[in-house]
Amino acid sequence: MNIRQAKEKIQELKRIIAENNHRYYVENSPLISDYDYDMLMNELIAIERMYPDLITPDSPTQRVGSDLSAAKKNEFRQYAHRYPMLSLGNTYDITEVEAFADRAEKGIGEKFTFSCELKFDGTAICLTYRDGKLFRALTRGDGTVGDDVTENAGHIGNIPGTLKGSGYPEEFEIRGEVYMPYKAFDRLNAERLRDEDAPFANPRNAASGSLKLIDPEEVGHRGLECTLYHILGDNLPFATHNEALEAAASWGLPVSDKRKLCSSIDEIEDYINFWDTERKNLPFATDGIVIKVNELPFQRSLGYTSKFPRWAVAYKFKAEQALTRLRSIDYQVGRTGAVTPVANLDPVPLSGTTVKRASLHNSEQMQLLDIRIGDYVYVEKGGEIIPKITGVELSRREEGTAVPQFPAECPVCGTPLVRDEGEAKFFCPNSDGCPPQIMGKLVHFISRKAMNVIAGDATVEQLYNLGLVRTPADLYDLDKQDLLRLEGWKDRSADRFLESLNASRSAGFEHVLFAIGIRYVGESTAKSIARHFGTIDAIMAADKDALLAVGDVGEVIADSILGYFSDEAHRNEIERLRAAGLNMSMEVQDAPLSDSLAGKTIVISGNFSISRDEMKSLIELHGGKNSSSLSSRTSFLLAGNKPGPEKLKKAESLGVPVIDEEEFNRIAGIAQADSAGNEEGGQLSLF
Ligand code: IVH
Repeated sequence: MNIRQAKEKIQELKRIIAENNHRYYVENSPLISDYDYDMLMNELIAIERMYPDLITPDSPTQRVGSDLSAAKKNEFRQYAHRYPMLSLGNTYDITEVEAFADRAEKGIGEKFTFSCELKFDGTAICLTYRDGKLFRALTRGDGTVGDDVTENAGHIGNIPGTLKGSGYPEEFEIRGEVYMPYKAFDRLNAERLRDEDAPFANPRNAASGSLKLIDPEEVGHRGLECTLYHILGDNLPFATHNEALEAAASWGLPVSDKRKLCSSIDEIEDYINFWDTERKNLPFATDGIVIKVNELPFQRSLGYTSKFPRWAVAYKFKAEQALTRLRSIDYQVGRTGAVTPVANLDPVPLSGTTVKRASLHNSEQMQLLDIRIGDYVYVEKGGEIIPKITGVELSRREEGTAVPQFPAECPVCGTPLVRDEGEAKFFCPNSDGCPPQIMGKLVHFISRKAMNVIAGDATVEQLYNLGLVRTPADLYDLDKQDLLRLEGWKDRSADRFLESLNASRSAGFEHVLFAIGIRYVGESTAKSIARHFGTIDAIMAADKDALLAVGDVGEVIADSILGYFSDEAHRNEIERLRAAGLNMSMEVQDAPLSDSLAGKTIVISGNFSISRDEMKSLIELHGGKNSSSLSSRTSFLLAGNKPGPEKLKKAESLGVPVIDEEEFNRIAGIAQADSAGNEEGGQLSLF
């Protein structure tokens, strides 16, 4: 690999890792398994090792993934961590654990011990106790700043609000993991399915999603638990990690009793082997073993890299596999028209459930595996709900097994399938006529960020199957009689649905534009287009150049919008939605306040006198554009209280000006609030 290829590969890996970090830490719904994620990271590490000059401070190999809810509404207050909250170096390879133990022995040079512990599979939390009372609970966030979830933590059963016993330091931090035991997870998912909410993919996502709920009472109902594994503070009176955790336990803090002190690599390996099997009998998920140097002075002398302690390592267990027989393959058409091969298997037990179906991803994957009907195949559970087939046991292949044929036509509507260049998946192009795609559009239309109608997939499916709804506009023609035909629906459910549908009539125009589902027009693009043109008529009348004048719109999106409105059926649908009373233009207060920030791309960091979401809206209302990452194209970094040090450093190295809130108000032409916080000039009172 030459340097140019290395650069390209690094760029690509960073992009994929960033996308998956977001899915994992912020959205709590990963698309790939932990193992696949770790392999991507290893590939990046290997290339960076070959070309150390290409390592940048923002590389995911140099910093922890962020769970900050910055982009979400109702975000939490954020506070800086007193000590950075780091991750752990991890490996699936026992020889790397041996290498870690060797390095520690060489670095320390005298007798010491290892503390071996379970690696709890949840979400990290940092608790601060002051004078024996829970003072604050923060998530890991980006390692430097975390979300304040104190109130929520107070509703987790085994986190004490007040310590018992005596001898605890006046102030200390204790870190650990919040997780959801299997029982609570199963109960929650059953409830969510009943309520037509998407189930969580695994207990870890359920735990981090639950810890960030807005309603602390609801957090209390989720059955979360916490185990604490790391104490920090100034001048703590402990010689070893084990002693510190024993003291914590005596103060009533939840500490694991599955820890073991080991003095040799053989003992470590025995511990690992024991728990590799025994963990299957635990009532909660573990994904590995953590091995820590036990003596605190030695921990201090080994120190930290920018991302990991050098005194600890995590050995991760590989996902469990099962071997079973492939009976047949179904070809499922998804909401986007993508066709996914799904294997029907002889039922086989795997990590607590019986697996009967598994994904084969796409036709390329089927060819790569060289899979045949009747083969014995390996199944694994990753981050996804549906398990996947990872291999074929060729030694057990029998004569006469048939090569499966990927269909040439849509198995639902019969339209010939197409595959775009560079795409691995085949698609059914009949987007307005193919039943799963029609239902997909309806589900999108009513979803929370679109029209926010309270109903789920099952309702849409029933409405479709009864022939009551084909397009979003049909929803607004429904009456109570129609709804009472739905299975299990009574007066109350029908009324609730109609009320919610009625409320959706006042959703802002940008939501309507997003809801109609023009390909590539996502939530933020819809907002930009709606703000730019102001009305649906102006958008429908726009030619390509006019569309390209919108900051977020390039060739692909412009062509997609033109294509959408050139279809008469779509224009009719818009007219029916207009007649149903939906907003087809921006409300006056949503219209831009000024264009004082037109053409400016702004990155914000830190806290302001208004919330971060409000600050972002303010930027947009004055014609500016928000961006989450700094580049040479950034106009300025708007730094509030406690901005991210990395952001400041990067701005400096790129020569991007850094301004504060006061300076920003001046540039945007916003009247300043006086020192008592009373607003003058009216514009800020919008919030
Ligand atoms: S010690 C300085 N001990 O695993 C690092 N971490 O993949 C201190 N984790 O970020 C962490 N169980 O959230 C430690 N017994 C344990 C753990 C544990 C789970 C989590 C933790 C960490 C992540 C790294």
